[in-house]
Amino acid sequence: MPPAPPFPILISNAQIRRRTHELARQIAAAHQDAPPVLVAVMEGARTFALLLARSLPCGLPVHAISASSYGSGTQSSGVVKVVETGDIAVRGRSVLLVEDIVDTGRTVTAMRGHFLSKGAAGFSVVTLLDKPARRVVPVELRYTGFTIPDTFVVGFGMDLDGRWRELPDVVLVDAAPAPRPAVH
Ligand code: PRP
Repeated sequence: MPPAPPFPILISNAQIRRRTHELARQIAAAHQDAPPVLVAVMEGARTFALLLARSLPCGLPVHAISASSYGSGTQSSGVVKVVETGDIAVRGRSVLLVEDIVDTGRTVTAMRGHFLSKGAAGFSVVTLLDKPARRVVPVELRYTGFTIPDTFVVGFGMDLDGRWRELPDVVLVDAAPAPRPAVH
């Protein structure tokens, strides 16, 4: 069972905002000639993608795509299904996939195959969090907000069985509980 909230903060909302602005500056500088197609992996990446889009100077729309890689609880199922509702026009354009977290790398890999097969001219990834200790498939992450240890986090869009997405900070839900004082 996770500890009762408030959960310990791993990355504060202020840190997220500062880092996202830095990433936006890098992205804008790298795409001066042609803006990328911003695609956020729902649901987790929605919050980060909207902040990133607001931080970019050019007012890019955020497209949504879905994938499923986690089963119930904190374990990945290993199966990733890409679901594109509505057609995102990517032929001849560069896709910038927005992720909240890259864990095994399976979602990013499935998305890369999906968009390249649709004729995208390029594919790169911006992720708020990278958890390299959990990687199963090697992936290239062009822009990374924070690299985190192998611990389960929620907040800022990320959930545990649908809960805690609304928390403003990235918080720890599997932190060891604080030791209880001994009672004699
Ligand atoms: C999370 C996260 C990434 C994916 C990363 O999504 O948002 O899309 O897992 O995992 P991977 O690198 O192992 O593929 P999740 O399946 O939890 O769905 P959600 O965003 O709707 O919560």
